[in-house]
Amino acid sequence: MVAETPAIETRQLTKVYPGFWKSQQVAALTNLNLTVRRGEIFGLLGPNGSGKTTTIKILLGLINPTAGEALVMGQPGGDQDTRRRIGYLPEESYLYRFLNARQTLDFYARLFNMNRTQRRQAVDYYLDFVGLDPQVRSRRIGPYSKGQTRRVALAQALLNNPDLVIMDEPTSGLDPVGMLEIKNMILRLKQAGKTVLLSSHQLADVEDVCDRLVILYRGKVELEGALSDLLEVKDVFQLEGRNIDAALQERLLTLAREAGAIELKTGRPRVRLEDLFKRLVESKRRGEAAAAGR
Ligand SMILES: Nc1ncnc2c1ncn2[C@@H]1O[C@H](COP(=O)(O)OP(=O)(O)O)[C@@H](O)[C@H]1O
Ligand SMILES: [Mg+2]
Repeated sequence: MVAETPAIETRQLTKVYPGFWKSQQVAALTNLNLTVRRGEIFGLLGPNGSGKTTTIKILLGLINPTAGEALVMGQPGGDQDTRRRIGYLPEESYLYRFLNARQTLDFYARLFNMNRTQRRQAVDYYLDFVGLDPQVRSRRIGPYSKGQTRRVALAQALLNNPDLVIMDEPTSGLDPVGMLEIKNMILRLKQAGKTVLLSSHQLADVEDVCDRLVILYRGKVELEGALSDLLEVKDVFQLEGRNIDAALQERLLTLAREAGAIELKTGRPRVRLEDLFKRLVESKRRGEAAAAGR
């Protein structure tokens, strides 16, 4: 069987932004080789200025590479038919302040030539998917919070039911709960069989969702691999459990020492402050929802 073409493939992709003087040129990407398989969540990570947005813009055909190749589902970036199968969440979304969420999505649905019935269905389906509060859907977008605006922009990116979803810094500016919700949405996109390319400069944002990732630094790949491989400390074994009293702890330690284990450490696990915060807010929200339902 012929292997399926990757969702994204770049070969020796290079971008130099011109400057008036040669010394002002910026090498934003240098010989970038990426392969994103279909159906996976791929993280494009790196600090600000490392070339993430440049990579995405080339994949979308918004800018041309200086050298090298960028293929999306086997076609050069910017190919018209391929563009229709991509959903794009830009780093900054510019939405019309005076339209409400429904009108905004309806406007884009028209561009995809959907009829009235299809539009109404798609608009509500995707606003549900991104979890935009039904109460604000008919209010104009101007005063929306950052999280609400991000949701509308994401719904817009999904409106044409794309196979590949490209998100540039999807969690930037969101609070931890908003971040968690975006992560859950990304996992649901994967469950629906979609490929997701996601860029971020905040590793914790994407740590739980990526199957594989690269870390860029000044336009070059510094690290790449499967998330589980990169983060697992391979030569350390951990044991965790309940009902382990002091006597049992001592026995386990003695056994381990006698068997030659070294650098033994014991202690109690800690939760991350982020998780503690999320649990708190979620239980508050559930309480409010239950009270409102009564
Ligand atoms: N239009 C442009 N003209 C000149 N330099 C640019 C342009 N866009 C980006 N750059 C530079 O290219 C480098 C990579 O930028 P970018 O791809 O936006 O990084 P990231 O998205 O990882 O923050 C940065 O040094 C940035 O200043
Ligand atoms: Mg960027």
